[in-house]
Amino acid sequence: MKASTTARWFALSVFAGFSFLGTAACSNTGGSPSEAERTNGNGNAAEPKLVPAPLKVEKPAEAADTLVKLPANPPQEMPGLHNVVKLSDRIIIGAEPEGREAFASLVKMGVKTIISVDGKTPDAEAAAKHGLRYVHIPIGYDGITEEERLKLAKTYRELPGPVYTHCFHGKHRGPAAAAVGRVAVDGAPRDQAIAEMSQWCGTGKAYTGLYEVIALGDLPEASATKQLDYNFAPAAAIGGLQSAMVVVARAEEGLKALSKQGWKADAHHPDLVAIEEAKRAADTFTSIMQQADYAGRPADYKQWMERSEETSKELVLVLETVERGEPEASDQALRLYQRLKADCNACHKSYRD
Ligand code: HEC
Repeated sequence: MKASTTARWFALSVFAGFSFLGTAACSNTGGSPSEAERTNGNGNAAEPKLVPAPLKVEKPAEAADTLVKLPANPPQEMPGLHNVVKLSDRIIIGAEPEGREAFASLVKMGVKTIISVDGKTPDAEAAAKHGLRYVHIPIGYDGITEEERLKLAKTYRELPGPVYTHCFHGKHRGPAAAAVGRVAVDGAPRDQAIAEMSQWCGTGKAYTGLYEVIALGDLPEASATKQLDYNFAPAAAIGGLQSAMVVVARAEEGLKALSKQGWKADAHHPDLVAIEEAKRAADTFTSIMQQADYAGRPADYKQWMERSEETSKELVLVLETVERGEPEASDQALRLYQRLKADCNACHKSYRD
């Protein structure tokens, strides 16, 4: 029984994967639904009566590649959008939209609503100019709280689709948030949903909490989201550390790109300058260490933070010598960048993921 339900979703997803524009007819499991049952007022496909049951597995992140094997559905690139994967008629995931052309790409796909689960406050005004509505529900890397699950499910249920869900890169948090919608609103079996996270979206196996929520967690029924008093805010309140990390993350992203082109700016991104990115990272680490709650942090946390500040400052100095054309400096900068990145990961492993 379970196998055949999975197979049906499997077939539907293969079909959905072929076309970004087509409005696929939704084959509901169990009986043939009336027209009224098949669509709701938002033009979204009809929902299953009950949210699919939790899986009986101990390590969902590992099970994500063994329970269900999906056909290939590689992430797509579009103007301003990366890592785009269509999960269903209602739910598409990808990276943070870059610039106006990204919103145009979303409109082309028929998208009506965007959910950001990243810490950065979205540019809701720019999106609105393209007729797109932004909802901001920032989530962590270690799981999705009950309140966040309710807000996500309510958005997928009640705002017009298709809904484009993004985090920063479109790989971990975004796909997990989308999986809440896949299970609670699309009615996808949970083994299918975690397989999509891993096999289609590339969600890291280290983020066990994200897999656990989707495989085992309480995902809200329609009655629960109906009762929730939530106004789909386009800008959620963000804590000091989280917003600082958003800045650090953009700086690191810039450095990574520049490290691959000998630290030189290029014609496509003339304002992306290595020294400026390194300075931004250094200044942000400094400001984090001045925040009120920093003093009470554990010793290893502080050590990583202080070293990150030092490494960024050293990187600024070395990048200045790169600019002066010293031959060894470019490699030295690369080593510093790698040390910086290793410390991001080390701290996150203990204190974030
Ligand atoms: C000493 C610890 C530490 C270091 C070093 C550190 N981070 Fe973080 N980072 C955190 C913690 C803790 C959070 C979770 C903050 C929260 O959600 O309140 C976080 C959150 C984040 C987030 C998620 C922001 C969001 O959208 O919610 C990103 C992205 C991030 N860090 C990137 C980086 C990068 C890139 C580096 C290195 C250049 C780095 N961090 C260095 C501790 C650290």
